[in-house]
Order: sequence, then structure tokens, then C-alpha cells
Amino acid sequence: MAQTQPVTAVIVGGGHRAIIYGDYSLKHPDELKIVGIADPMAERRQMAMARYGFPPENCFASAQELAARPKFADAVINGTMDHQHYETSLPLLRRGYDMLLEKPFAVSEAEMKALIRAVKENGCRVMVCHVLRYTPFYREIKRRILSGELGEIINIQMAEHVSYHHLSTSYVRGKWANSDRCKTSMLLAKSCHDIDIMMWLMGDVKPRTVSSVGGIFQFRPENAPKGAGTRCLVDCPLVDTCRYSAKKLYFEHPNRWECYVWSELEHLENATDEDRWNSLLRSPYGRCIYQCDNNVVDHQSVLVNFENGATGTHNMIGGSARSARPIHVIGTKGELEGVFEDEVITVRKIAAEEESGFVTETVDLSAAGAEGHGGGDDALTADFVRYVSTGEQSISCTAIENSIAGHLTVFHADQSRENGGIPVACDFSAY
Ligand SMILES: NC(=O)c1ccc[n+]([C@@H]2O[C@H](COP(=O)([O-])OP(=O)(O)OC[C@H]3O[C@@H](n4cnc5c(N)ncnc54)[C@H](O)[C@@H]3O)[C@@H](O)[C@H]2O)c1
Repeated sequence: MAQTQPVTAVIVGGGHRAIIYGDYSLKHPDELKIVGIADPMAERRQMAMARYGFPPENCFASAQELAARPKFADAVINGTMDHQHYETSLPLLRRGYDMLLEKPFAVSEAEMKALIRAVKENGCRVMVCHVLRYTPFYREIKRRILSGELGEIINIQMAEHVSYHHLSTSYVRGKWANSDRCKTSMLLAKSCHDIDIMMWLMGDVKPRTVSSVGGIFQFRPENAPKGAGTRCLVDCPLVDTCRYSAKKLYFEHPNRWECYVWSELEHLENATDEDRWNSLLRSPYGRCIYQCDNNVVDHQSVLVNFENGATGTHNMIGGSARSARPIHVIGTKGELEGVFEDEVITVRKIAAEEESGFVTETVDLSAAGAEGHGGGDDALTADFVRYVSTGEQSISCTAIENSIAGHLTVFHADQSRENGGIPVACDFSAY
């Protein structure tokens, strides 16, 4: 069905992620129009008003304040932090807003159940921002599986190598380092995308049990090099030699994870070297990497046993030289493998007549590549607009009900890890 009017949306939590989705409206004004914002930060409200051109009466200090006003848009784009998704979404769902909701959409099974109930009771269309499902790489893998050419899936091996600079920025020094504050584990914050992909590739086959082990391998106080200080730029003699020195990681590479590292300089139009140096003197990103209050794991392995006997593994390893997401899917008729960042998939099919025993096909997806999570950000927003205006779900569609298996698997993996790796049974009867 052709769309006659743009879908109207209010941004809730005008941070880095929500603005990425909101900017789709600047490229496709006939499809999406941003008509308001709810955010406690006045400067972010101002920025959104100037960017999208809506009136001041459509600015709210919180999701709750927005929900107190009668519904005036089709949808909200909820880009608040992980632990706020539940409290900010619930009143807006009750107001009848459709929603594009960041992942993880809930930080516990209890929150997940309550949100699913609210979605059903209020008849809302809610999509979760599992952007990887929309990338050419994973779409091609899904297409191959759906075509039947690999046969029945026996095993999926996945991994996420989180680079040393990403690990240190987000999971040792930064926003997702301490679960008492952020309320998420590293698996939930980082690899819920990958576990979602595993569940998506398995289609209707549900996980039966999940087990997992992991821990903090590197960044503990007892591993600090001899003589290390407490803040890189203040009292550390190793500032020019340590791999994790804030000077080397951030000051000398100011574009690296800039939206996190320099967040306190966001209000400055042109931050200088002096501003950045001074920021690192006091911000969390200037702390000695070995002496932070991080309590989330830096590596974790997950083993999933599916109800039909198939198996899946996911290894999340923080501290690698490069970020990479390798995947290998083995089916009864063939297999495929690739690394997301390489944008190439190798497909091998069983061929007894061949001397090698198989035929190989190489699929180069680099021409299809695009910006923002390999093109996933824009494709997801486009699909959300379609879903809201037509109710139709695409093959990739991350409607909230399609995201339950992935989230439940992550919750169970963490439960297993906290209990020495014992398998946890998956129960979908409540959904
Ligand atoms: N899909 C992805 O690939 C991906 C990538 C990175 C981050 N994320 C997720 O995106 C989310 C947002 O991350 P971010 O870095 O953009 O966060 P952010 O901190 O930049 O933005 C969050 C915003 O929410 C606002 N806020 C707080 N309480 C609020 C309330 N009650 N009502 C309305 N607004 C409120 C804050 O003031 C802030 O502006 C997180 O859940 C994160 O895990 C997803």
C-alpha cells in the first residue's frame, strides 16, 4: 500500500541513537516527520527543534510528561538508555503510540513480560532496533537459509570480537561498565544483536536450554602494570607506553568513540585540544584502565541447545585488535561462513561427484555496503515506517514479539554464567 502522508514521530531520549533514526526524516521527508522531543536535557531539546523544525510546545522534559498529553503523533522513537526503556515505554504504549525502541528493550525477564503485555493490550506496533538484521550481510545469510539450499541447520557458530578500544571505552571505563549503574550485562548490551541473529536464522525453532561461562580476564586492579598511576594524564609514568593510555586511545585519536568520550563537551561548537585534555583529567575515560569500577565480564561464551537438537554457540571476546563478527552456519546440504566486516560470504554445498566433495560460491556484498551499521540503521528506520503505516512485517522485521527469543536467551545465559554454567531451561509459555 503506498504511503500518502509521512509517519509522524516524537523522539524520546534525543541522544546519539535516536538522532540517527530521526535523521531518516531529513532524507525522506515524504516518509517520516519528527514532530517533537522528550528529553530532560534542554540543549538536546533545542538541538532537535532546530534540526527538525517543530514548535516549542512539542518539547517535553521526559517521556512521562509527553505521555500526560493527548497523543499527537503516530509513533515515538525511544532512544533512552537500556534501563529506562521499560519506565519510558510503558506510559507511551498506554497512550497508544507505536514505537521504535532501542535494544535491549528490557533489562530483565519481568520487564520484558510487562512490556509485551502492554504492547498486546494497547494494540501497538513496536519494533526493536536490531539493526544487524537489516544489513546486506545477514540478509543474504537469511535468504540462503530460507531458500533451503543449506538444508536443515545443524549448528550455528557465531562470535563477536570487541576491539580493545571499544571494550575500554564502553565496558571498562564507560557507560556499560558497571551493572549496578547501567543495569545490563555486557552480553545484553553488546551481543543481544548477535543472539537475536542466531534466533532469527533458526526461524520457528526455539532454544530449549542455554548455558554460559565468562568473566573478567584483563582489567582488574591486580593486573595493573608496576608503577601505574590512577589517572593516565595526571599521575601515570606509563602514559606514553600503555596500550590503554587515554592519551594514546582518545587524545591522539579524538574521533575514536567521540560521542561517548567527549560527551561532556557536546555543548561546545568547536572543542579544542585543551578542552579535550582537560576533560580527560576528570572524566571516567581518563581513569587507569586497571582501576575502574567495572564489574561486567570482558569475555563470555554461550551454548544454545535448540528444541530440534540443533546447537548454536556465541563467543563474545573483548580486547581484540579489530572488531569482527565471524559466523559459520552448517546445514544438512551445505554450509556458509563469513565475517561481517569483510562483507564476503563463502557458500559450500555438498557435491559427492566433485573430487573435493563440495562446490564453492563466493558472494561479495561490498558493493551493497552502506553507512551506519553496514546500512542497517537506515534500512531499519525505513522498515519501521512501513510497519507503522501498513502493519506488514518484512523478513527482517524486528517487531517486539520477534525479539523475545533473543532477549530470553541472553537473560538465561547470564543466569547460567552467574551459576557456574549450569543449563537454564527456556519457557516460552508466558508469551
Ligand atoms: N542499535 C544499536 O546498534 C545501538 C548502538 C549503540 C547504542 N544502542 C542503544 O541505544 C540506547 C541509547 O544510547 P545513546 O548512547 O544514544 O544514549 P544517550 O545517553 O546519548 O541518550 C539517552 C537520552 O535519554 C534521555 N533521557 C533520560 N531519561 C529520560 C526520560 N525519562 N524521558 C526522555 N528522555 C530521557 C537523556 O537525557 C539522553 O539525552 C541505549 O539503550 C543503547 O544501548 C543501540
